[in-house]
This record gives sequence, structure tokens and C-alpha cells, in this order.
Amino acid sequence: MILSGGAGTRLRPITHTSAKQLVPVANKPILFYGIEALKEAGISQIGIIVGDTEDEIREAVGDGSAWGVSITYIRQEAPLGLAHAVLTAAGFLADTPFVMYLGDNLIKEGIADFVDEFRRKDVDALILLAHVTEPQRFGVAELDGSRIVRLVEKPEQPPSDLALVGAYMFRPSILEASRSITPSWRDELEITDAIQHLIDHGHRVEAHVIDGWWKDTGHLEDLLEANRIVLENIEARCDGSIDADSRVDGRVIVEEGAEVVRSSVRGPAIIGKGTRIIDSYIGPFTSIYYGVTVEGSELEHSIVMENSSIANIPGRIENSLIGKNVEICRCFELPKTFRFVLGDNSRVGLI
Ligand code: DAU
Repeated sequence: MILSGGAGTRLRPITHTSAKQLVPVANKPILFYGIEALKEAGISQIGIIVGDTEDEIREAVGDGSAWGVSITYIRQEAPLGLAHAVLTAAGFLADTPFVMYLGDNLIKEGIADFVDEFRRKDVDALILLAHVTEPQRFGVAELDGSRIVRLVEKPEQPPSDLALVGAYMFRPSILEASRSITPSWRDELEITDAIQHLIDHGHRVEAHVIDGWWKDTGHLEDLLEANRIVLENIEARCDGSIDADSRVDGRVIVEEGAEVVRSSVRGPAIIGKGTRIIDSYIGPFTSIYYGVTVEGSELEHSIVMENSSIANIPGRIENSLIGKNVEICRCFELPKTFRFVLGDNSRVGLI
């Protein structure tokens, strides 16, 4: 099962209106990386937990045939916690072992090896851990050798720097454990508490510390970093057009129908389908999704979502996430004023 419900407060205002799991990283929605990871692990029946953004997720993912998997949508009444999502999916999960994958997570090495290991072992749960610099933002594990002693959700005083990664392998015993716990201080049925319940009742829970990079893309900085890391590995390709007055250096993907006109693009970067870059500079680690126009502007280390337009901006735009259908332009009319139409919790930095 993939968890794609939830409110997503940390990426607001993008997540006021859209699913955070559909924000594109290197021009591919984050959620698609999860579907690919499960498919690669040999899983073909996927239940996706959805909430208020169900329609948008259904439209993007469809029935799964694009990946050769079968998708079942499972509506969760409200984001009441990861263990609540497990209980909501009980009918779908039936009596089979399963992987629970958080739809806003990206795990570079995928999960195929861990799923294989889980299939071979007689354990009730296999969880993945990673060393992090801010453990208080995650579920944290305390280990005694390789044995898990305790799991705590977002502790003020973390017992270690080992965070729970958003992919868990369970047997049906997790359902009983999820039924046995009570909501946490943040009023959620926490999967960490359900796993702790398994441990406390003598079930075998194993942990694996992963070496490759992993990102929970819930925060802007992590999202931009994930975009950077994925772009590091792209191969240059041009399926659109680059005119003779433009310069393209390094690994740049220009997708179908995209146009680069009198501009300079320095890779790694990706210019999406039908996007037009005119009299502009696009710097490294920038992903511009489809149908966007960038004219007379400079952009670097940023993600621009579909159908937005950026025109005649005097300074360079950096470290930014620009949502769908956004317009940023310089107005030449008088009086010379700033004019904004910004959603709640927007952030604008001016020079
Ligand atoms: O990313 C790893 C972390 O994910 C773990 O270290 C934590 O132990 C775990 O609790 C979780 O923490 P987050 O606070 O980051 O979870 P978040 O609320 O962002 O939800 C993760 C995904 O699950 C996200 O795609 C939304 C979805 N979700 C969340 C809740 C609470 C649901 O589908 N239903 C829910 O009820």
C-alpha cells in the first residue's frame, strides 16, 4: 500500500489545493517513484490510500496499467495516522504480508532487496532506518546492537540519530497491533506505536540501516535536494528544439515540444513538454514541468510546476518551488508598485 492521503502542512500553500505526492521531482511526480519501487520489488497489487486529493491522484495514476500494476484506491476519512491508514486498508490487505510505502518518500536504492530479505525471513516486521541530522523530525529508533528496543515519534530528545524511513514491511499481525494502540499527542494512530506494540508482545521486528540517500520530501529544502540528486543522474536528450542563438551546456533534457530560444541552459536541468524558454538563463538543478513559459528571466536550483509563467524578472530566482498556473511578471505600468495575489502561507522574498 502507498500512503497518499494526509494534509501536508509543511509544503503549504502548494498542499492547500494539491497533493504533495504529485509535486514533480525531475519532472516526475514523487508518487510515481514509489509505484516504480514497488513494481521493481515484484509487487503488482497496490492499494493507494487517498484523502481529499483523491480525484487528482486518480487522474495522475489511473488504473496502474502504465506501470503494469493494478491499483485499488482506498479512501481514508481523514489523516488520522499511519496506523489508521493500515486499519482503513484492512479489507484490501486481507491476510497477506505487505509493504507500506509513504507516498512522499524517495529511496534511491529502491526496496527490492529489502522485500526479498523480508520474504525469506520469519519476522513480523522489517523496518528501514537511516542516519539523519535532525532526528526530532522523524520517528526515531533506539537500538541495542541490532535489536530495536524502542521507537518514538518525533521526540524532543532523540535517543539516536536513526530515523524511520517511509517503507515498512509487515505481516498481518500489524493490524491487531494497530487496533490495540491509542492516538498520540498529535492525535494520530502512529505506526511507530503499533510497531512498538509488536516488539512489546514478543513479535520479531528487524531493522535495516540503509546506506543510500533517502528523502522525506515534506519540506522545501528536502524536495529541492531530492530534485538535485535525481538530476545528477540524468542523461542529456533533446526531443524539442534549441535555436542557433541558444547555448546548452552539460546534461540537459529538453522534452517533446519544448523550445529554447535565445537562452542559456546549464545542466543538469530539465525542460518539460511544451515549455518555452525565451531570452532567459536556466541554471543547474532546475526542473521546469510542462506548459511553462520563462521569458527574460533567470532561474536556478528550483522546481517550476505545470503551466506557470515567469516574465521579465530583474533578479535571479533561486531555491524556489513555484506551483501550478502561477504567474510572476514585472509590470511596467505606473504607478510602480508590487502587486500580489498570493495564497495563504505563501512565501515571497524580494531584493
Ligand atoms: O518520512 C518518514 C517519516 O514518516 C517517519 O520517520 C515517521 O515515523 C512517520 O510517522 C512519518 O512521519 P511524517 O510526519 O513525515 O508523516 P506524514 O504526515 O508526512 O505522512 C506520510 C505520508 O502518509 C504522506 O504521503 C501522507 C500520508 N498519510 C499520512 C497520514 C498521517 C496518509 O495517507 N494518511 C494519514 O493519516
